[in-house]
Amino acid sequence: MIEFQVNGAGKRLDVEADMPLLWVIREHLRLTGTKFGCGIGQCGACTVHLDGEPVRSCITPAAAAAGRSITTIEGLAKSGEARHPLQQAWIDEQVPQCGYCQSGQIMAAAALLAEHPAPDDDAINAAMRGNICRCGTYARIRRAIKKAATGAAPNDGE
Ligand code: FES
Ligand code: FES
Repeated sequence: MIEFQVNGAGKRLDVEADMPLLWVIREHLRLTGTKFGCGIGQCGACTVHLDGEPVRSCITPAAAAAGRSITTIEGLAKSGEARHPLQQAWIDEQVPQCGYCQSGQIMAAAALLAEHPAPDDDAINAAMRGNICRCGTYARIRRAIKKAATGAAPNDGE
């Protein structure tokens, strides 16, 4: 039995300690906004926050979440907010193409902004380097992160 918080709600689940957290999130909690991409920690599609830190849930065992707080894309907006500023910026900048990588991208970006409220290109590139987008939306992602950070979209030439 493992107890943890998910998006602010307490949960108690009878799952194997070594079950990937991604399976717990998708199959047991039915929160399917978090995606399965590579399954080996290489793409970032499965990124969630554990006590505010971005983790790859496909290679994080369920036991690692015991007593801790998980945030998924479904719980990213503060209560009372329709969406997180990054989600709004993603819409405004029309970031997604196929969309598959995007919840992981937003979760990685949210962790970045929590730590660095006004990141420059180098900080963005460093934080987002491990999140792969096969559709090549990287320039739009960068622009949306800056927009969410400042409230105005910078012109970076795309
Ligand atoms: S699915 Fe977890 S890093 Fe790719
Ligand atoms: S939007 Fe298609 S993989 Fe990123």
